[in-house]
Amino acid sequence: MTKLKKLFEPIMVGQIELKNRLVRPGMLSNYAENERVTDRMKNFYSEVARGGVALMVTGGMTCIDLGGVMARGLGIYKDDFIPGLRELVGVVHAGGAKVAAQLSAPAMWRSAEKGSIEVIGPSDVVVNPRGGPKPRPVTVDEIKQIIDALGDCTRRARDAGFDAVEFHAGIGGLINQFMSPYTNKRTDKYGGDLENRMRFFLEIINMAQRKAGEDYTLLARVSGADFMEGGHTLEDTMVVAPILERAGIKAINVTTGWHEAPVPSFHASVPRGAWTYLAEGVKKVVNIPVVTGTRVPDPILADQIIAEGKADLVYMARPLIADPELPNKAKEGRFDDIRPCIACSRCFSTILRGEPMVCTVNARAGKEAEYSIEPAKEPKRVFIIGGGPAGMEAARVAAMRGHRVTLADKGNRLGGLMLVAELPPYKDDIGYFTKYLAGQMERLGVDVRLGEEVTAEAVEKMKPDVVIVATGATPIIPDIPGARGDNVATAIDVLTGKKEVGENVAIIGGGMVGCETAEFLAQKGKRVTILEMLGRVGVDIEATNRWVIMQRLRAAKVRMETNAKAEEITAKGVRVSRDGQSQFFEADSVVLAVGMQANPKLANELEGKVKALYVIGDSAKPQKIAEAVESGLRVGREI
Ligand SMILES: Cc1cc2nc3c(=O)[nH]c(=O)nc-3n(C[C@H](O)[C@H](O)[C@H](O)COP(=O)(O)OP(=O)(O)OC[C@H]3O[C@@H](n4cnc5c(N)ncnc54)[C@H](O)[C@@H]3O)c2cc1C
Ligand SMILES: Cc1cc2nc3c(=O)[nH]c(=O)nc-3n(C[C@H](O)[C@H](O)[C@H](O)COP(=O)(O)O)c2cc1C
Ligand code: SF4
Repeated sequence: MTKLKKLFEPIMVGQIELKNRLVRPGMLSNYAENERVTDRMKNFYSEVARGGVALMVTGGMTCIDLGGVMARGLGIYKDDFIPGLRELVGVVHAGGAKVAAQLSAPAMWRSAEKGSIEVIGPSDVVVNPRGGPKPRPVTVDEIKQIIDALGDCTRRARDAGFDAVEFHAGIGGLINQFMSPYTNKRTDKYGGDLENRMRFFLEIINMAQRKAGEDYTLLARVSGADFMEGGHTLEDTMVVAPILERAGIKAINVTTGWHEAPVPSFHASVPRGAWTYLAEGVKKVVNIPVVTGTRVPDPILADQIIAEGKADLVYMARPLIADPELPNKAKEGRFDDIRPCIACSRCFSTILRGEPMVCTVNARAGKEAEYSIEPAKEPKRVFIIGGGPAGMEAARVAAMRGHRVTLADKGNRLGGLMLVAELPPYKDDIGYFTKYLAGQMERLGVDVRLGEEVTAEAVEKMKPDVVIVATGATPIIPDIPGARGDNVATAIDVLTGKKEVGENVAIIGGGMVGCETAEFLAQKGKRVTILEMLGRVGVDIEATNRWVIMQRLRAAKVRMETNAKAEEITAKGVRVSRDGQSQFFEADSVVLAVGMQANPKLANELEGKVKALYVIGDSAKPQKIAEAVESGLRVGREI
């Protein structure tokens, strides 16, 4: 068994002793309501704290009254937030972790006269080179008000019992914008050379010390490099970090890039541990603890980073949503028991849409009370047909509750369509989740029968108390001439290597599966054209991921033709209708990626013939892994 060397050693950060080296970094969950702590948020924080992490940082809090534009994030801009925040601190402490309040300087301002919100910045530089609002340069008087407000918020954080405050000075937030020559073009004392550009942040730190006390622990989160044209590089951050140390910052969390940077920072294509070098650089120039992270989901890698002296602590955001118990499991050496994050970023996309955060692999995240898992009142014989994520999650939960579970799959490996979903480029993380669920079947004593195509007669013969149909879905074959021709294959057949394609390939359907299959084929040197009937390609891809795959498809010279509805497939290619006109795209092979349809056959045949019948996952409605897992969890705890 791998033995961890350093991950569970305690460390002092300012005034606080941390029991190990794992940090849950700043993370919005959108579980607040009207900027206030809710039971849902407390349950979520409690679960993470009890899972063994040493330090949790809240999501970026609102430090100035912006009229509730961030109503699902936490407010700390007036004293009457303190009682609620104290309750949140209480649950984290009860769970055995320390907690820091993340304070951000707003890049928004509510004009007193107009009452409306406007975007502000150090200068009028549009932050996003791909377009965005032009900020209004903030006045010196407003700068003073922000500094004062952050000082008051630090005092409130201390009053509420937070162990520390972390100033968010990274990813292109207002403090970062002041520090960076990319956005700061001011000619007054807050702009110009580095000393002037840092003045805003240093005055915030100074004000926080005055209002909350010099002994209160202040932390900073910075971007190790901005990855913006003309912005800070690691070398610049290595100059900034010692200045922050001298100003009284007690630990530096080194994150990556700006939100607007053209470099993906936490997409699944980013190799694990890719950004450690940024923290390593900062660690060379300071004596305070340095925190690294982003794409470090593996405790063994985290331990190695610390043991090699590259950083003192490691943060994990998404891995602790996927499995809040990761630290405890790692400490006990139960590595295979850790439910892995698949880096799909559905969590991030939901909060960007302003919705409460959800997780693909952990349907309990944010629904801990609703989805508590209790022992079954009476153990039942449960028969599950289908070993994809829906069937395996239902089996896992039912077996945990004490039911006797049999799971059959006609394939020779567990995983269902996840075995295909992991095949396109950069999707290997899905494979870890398949391995985890399959491992849980063994650990929980589920009777797994592979290579068995289950029929209604076989189920009836078994006479189980509960039958769960999780048989998934099958690809849709469009009802157009030529769709069943020899030159046509489904995306699944192509990805699994069941069918070969020629050099010039047309893919009908530009959703996630079509785009990923296009990249898969382009990497094999094929010339690929996507034909999409909608006005946009990749509409079902998470916003956080879409721009990354589009960037790669363009680089791979994949043609993307929109508003192109396939009407006919011939031996020479595809005829589409476009704005009422007919157009022909030549292709040696045609790949179908037009969606999936549920296969209700088995469920229909079993209707009324078994004691209790449930249909879950794609076999109820083709969606994604998240919905499959959630339906499995729901039924697993219901029976
Ligand atoms: C190329 C591709 C990429 C994808 N990428 C993603 C992604 O990135 N993210 C995401 O969230 N979703 C993705 N999906 C969708 C996701 O894989 C499915 O939504 C999910 O696997 C559905 O889970 P399920 O358990 O309901 O069904 P499946 O995973 O389809 O499992 C059903 C299982 O039932 C078995 N079965 C069927 N009939 C019988 C029978 N009669 N007897 C025994 N066994 C039977 C099958 O062998 C199969 O193993 C992708 C899908 C494809 C095709
Ligand atoms: C749902 C979600 C919300 C986030 N909110 C914040 C935030 O409020 N403040 C912050 O500094 N970082 C935030 N982040 C970024 C994370 O702290 C972290 O840097 C990022 O997820 C990469 O780390 P990971 O690979 O361990 O997930 C958020 C990330 C996610 C997934
Ligand atoms: S939603 Fe996806 S990226 Fe986010 S924690 Fe869950 S598995 Fe990881």
